[in-house]
Amino acid sequence: MERSEQIRILKGLMSHLDSKTNVDAGGIMKTPSDTYTCEDRFKMEWDTFFLNHPQIIGMSGDLPKNDTFVTTQDFGIPILATRNSKGEFKAYANVCSHRGVIVEGERKGEKSKFSCPFHGWTFNNQGSLIGYPKGDHFGEIDKSCYGLKPLPCIEKYGFLWVHPSEEGEINLNDLLGSNLIKEFESWNFEKLLFTNEEEYVTDMNWKLAIDTFGETYHFSVLHKDSLFENFHGNCQMFDSFKRNGRLILCKREIDEMRKLPEKDWNICTGTLPVYYLFPNIIFMPTNEGAFLVKEYPLENSPNKSVSKVCFYFYPEVLEYIKNLEKSGNQEGITLQEQYGGFADVIRDEDYVVAASSHKGLMSGKLDYLTFGRNEPALHHYHNTYREALGLQSLPLIQN
Ligand code: FES
Ligand SMILES: [Fe+2]
Repeated sequence: MERSEQIRILKGLMSHLDSKTNVDAGGIMKTPSDTYTCEDRFKMEWDTFFLNHPQIIGMSGDLPKNDTFVTTQDFGIPILATRNSKGEFKAYANVCSHRGVIVEGERKGEKSKFSCPFHGWTFNNQGSLIGYPKGDHFGEIDKSCYGLKPLPCIEKYGFLWVHPSEEGEINLNDLLGSNLIKEFESWNFEKLLFTNEEEYVTDMNWKLAIDTFGETYHFSVLHKDSLFENFHGNCQMFDSFKRNGRLILCKREIDEMRKLPEKDWNICTGTLPVYYLFPNIIFMPTNEGAFLVKEYPLENSPNKSVSKVCFYFYPEVLEYIKNLEKSGNQEGITLQEQYGGFADVIRDEDYVVAASSHKGLMSGKLDYLTFGRNEPALHHYHNTYREALGLQSLPLIQN
C-alpha cells in the first residue's frame, strides 16, 4: 500500500481510538431476511456471480514454477489452470474431449501432461491433445480439433483470474478500478507462496460468511477470549473501490507503534487490512504473508456453503521458519500456529454464529437484518450484490 495511504489510515484509526469513535456510514440499513434464504435469489446469484463472472481461483504462488497446475470445481465448471513450460498462466475446462471425463483429478501439483483416467487421452499444459492410445483401432481423428477448451484468464498483481465462460471477458479496469489497481501494484503479492489450505463446510448462506469479515463490532463479545486480545474492537476504516472494499481492522500493536517516529509506522504492524473482492473473496495481507478466503455456495443451495481458507507466506519468511525449525527454535512454529489459530477462530467462532444466524433466518421469525452505522462494509456488500442483480438499492436510514 502506498506510504501516504498507510499514514492516512493509521492516523484515522488513532483518531478513532483517541476520540472513542468509529467509522460511520451515516445511517443504518436493513436487508430482508430472504436475502440469505430465497431460492430464486440464490439462483440469480449463482448464475450472475459464479457462472458468468471472473473468479479469483488463487494466487501466483499457487503455481510457483513452470509445469505446475491447479484444478477447481468450486464454481460449477471444472477448471484446469496451468503455468505452462514457458511460464504462462493458462486455464482450460478440465473436461476430456473424448467423452467428458474430468481429466486431472488432483487439486494441484507439478506436471506438464495430463492423462484422462478413462481411456488415457493425453493433453499437454497448452491444452492440446498430444496422444490417444490405440489410434489404429480407435480411428483417425484430427487432434487439433480435440484440445481442452481454453478459458479467459489473467495473472496480475499476484492474483489468478479465470472466467468460467469461453466468451467471458476479464477487464481488470472494470473489475477493480484505477485506485485499487494502483494499490495492488504497490504490494508484492506476486511473491507470496502457497503453504496450505483448509476447508470449512457450514450450514449457512455463502454471504453470511462474507458478512463475518465485514465488521469488528462483534470482537469484544464473540471474540472476547481470542481476537479481542490482539485487536481493538469496534474501530476500523473503510473504503470502497467499485464493487470491492477494503476494511482496516485495528490491532492493539498500534498503541506501541504510534510512539515511534512516523517513518517507522507500517500498515500491517498496526492493522489487518481486509480486502473484499467482488463477489466472494476476502484477502488479508500481513507482514509475513496473507490469507485468501474463498466462499462458495454448496449443493446448489442457499443454505450451505464452503469456505476455503488458503495460507501464503513470503519466501524469506518461509526460509526463516525453516532455519528456526532446523535449529530447534520454536518461534517459527509459533508463527504458523498463529496463522492456524486465526483460521480456527473463523471456524469455531465466526462461522458458528453465522450458521446460527442462518437457522434463525430460516425460522421465518425475523423480517430483516440490520446493519449499523459502524458496519459500512456490510452496507456496501449488500447494495453491491443488489446492484449487480438489478435489484433496487437498500436505503440508508438516518437515525
Ligand atoms: S473420456 Fe477421456 S479418454 Fe475417454
Ligand atoms: Fe469475527
